[in-house]
Amino acid sequence: MRTMRSRVPRKLLWVVGAILLTLLLVGCGKDLPQNTFNPAGPTAQSEKDVLMVPLIIAGIVFVLVEGGILFLAIKFRHRKGKERMPSQLHGNTRLELGWTVAPAVLLAVVMVPAISLIWKLAQRPPDAMQITVQGYQWWWGFQYSDSDMTVGSGEQRPIEIADVMVVPTGREIYLSLEAEGGGAKNTDGTPDFQVIHSFWVPELFGKQDVVPGRTNHITFQVDEPGTYTGQCAEFCGLQHGRMKLRVVALDPDDWELWVVNQQQGPALVSDPLAKQGEEIFMNPLSGGRGACTACHAVGDVGAAAAPNLSHFNEPTHQCFAGCNWDTSDVDALKAWLRNPNAVKLGAKMPNYHLSEDEINALVAYLYSLT
Ligand code: CUA
Repeated sequence: MRTMRSRVPRKLLWVVGAILLTLLLVGCGKDLPQNTFNPAGPTAQSEKDVLMVPLIIAGIVFVLVEGGILFLAIKFRHRKGKERMPSQLHGNTRLELGWTVAPAVLLAVVMVPAISLIWKLAQRPPDAMQITVQGYQWWWGFQYSDSDMTVGSGEQRPIEIADVMVVPTGREIYLSLEAEGGGAKNTDGTPDFQVIHSFWVPELFGKQDVVPGRTNHITFQVDEPGTYTGQCAEFCGLQHGRMKLRVVALDPDDWELWVVNQQQGPALVSDPLAKQGEEIFMNPLSGGRGACTACHAVGDVGAAAAPNLSHFNEPTHQCFAGCNWDTSDVDALKAWLRNPNAVKLGAKMPNYHLSEDEINALVAYLYSLT
């Protein structure tokens, strides 16, 4: 022990200790929204119930074992003048059998509710609303795939939104999770960046991996209207930490209005500056700089490689670009348009070298899309 201590510098021990203590204390913060222990729907509630039993048992085991270690370390510590070793013993069949069998029995007991919940949650409820969740680098897209959730003047297509998933309260929702890469496709049609994400809104449901080439599912329901925050929980590249999302739950009446608004398509633009922005958005940029609609869609126009902007400024669309900035934050929106990579390094949207006039017009246009 003595040689160990002399090798590890004291300062380093203090630093490591301080870091561990800080991490521990962070868990005591108030008003932290992403709290598994604060379930806001039946899925999260049943997951918490299954978690609590082993957590309590593990807590008791932890106190007993650590307490025992502390007790023995203090009772049999080295004292000056007492050089005699305490009597050494090895092997106690009864004890060893006991601490092998007891944990096995405990684990078997804990396994029963855990596995039955896994089975229960894996079932697809017959009347659930269906939403396809798309994990992109680094934002979330949502497609409403039920037949009564279509939009479009010609060919009908699903309602598509990004960053904020809007759902009705009191209704079961069945999510299909798909990994979509960076937005572009390889020559064989697969997404360009095949990375794994994980979809997680702690107050509503546990983590579920979003894996290229397969579709995973989550079933959940929200009890009360409100905003619930979540984030990607699987390292997926440079901006994994800024791949956030929000779930906005509306009561059934507000939900109906939201659906009608989505189905009406984008708002008509009347403001002159916004009109100018619409021109910039809908046409190729001057000087061969590319086109917004090469990746983004508004209404029937544009592609689906980047967030659909049809209702960018609708009140539930609280945040943009991986939910890193509030939609109402004009300066953040301008900074994003000026150079996305300057504010979110690695973002797939390139710098289009927009002039300040172009940026002002585009912002006015985006804000007219309610
Ligand atoms: Cu997506 Cu981490």
